[in-house]
Amino acid sequence: MQRLQFYKSKSKVFLAGIALAMFCVMSVASFALAEVGDPAAGKVRAAVCTACHGPDGISVNDNWPNLAGQKENYIIEQLESFQKGTRTNPLMSGVAKMLTQKDIHDVAAYFSHLKPCN
Ligand code: HEC
Repeated sequence: MQRLQFYKSKSKVFLAGIALAMFCVMSVASFALAEVGDPAAGKVRAAVCTACHGPDGISVNDNWPNLAGQKENYIIEQLESFQKGTRTNPLMSGVAKMLTQKDIHDVAAYFSHLKPCN
């Protein structure tokens, strides 16, 4: 009887271990799916953007928007709109279409972390 009790408690620990391992795998997977932007990768990808939006995200031209300090989610939404064609601009639409979903999240993380002009 005591032996049985021992096995029971051991299998509980084993099951808890499996549950914990599954939880870890699932949380890592959902982290990857959530596409958290990487500002360092975004900086590299943003080299092409700086021609118009400026090296520090402050535009070089009075008619072009600054991106430094812009809200991350807003940048993502605008780039997706340019891709879908729900927002169009002769300069921006083509550029946006060259970006992958990961690029969009990375450049959005990068520009949103830059200091806005004052
Ligand atoms: C050839 C010049 C040019 C390049 C290169 C360029 N943009 Fe733009 N971008 C513009 C212009 C012009 C607008 C304003 C569009 C409009 O009036 O609708 C704009 C708008 C935007 C907006 C919307 C800003 C807002 O306030 O609504 C975002 C976000 C953006 N660009 C991101 C990028 C990113 C990221 C890159 C690089 C991958 C990039 N742009 C490259 C010219 C450019």
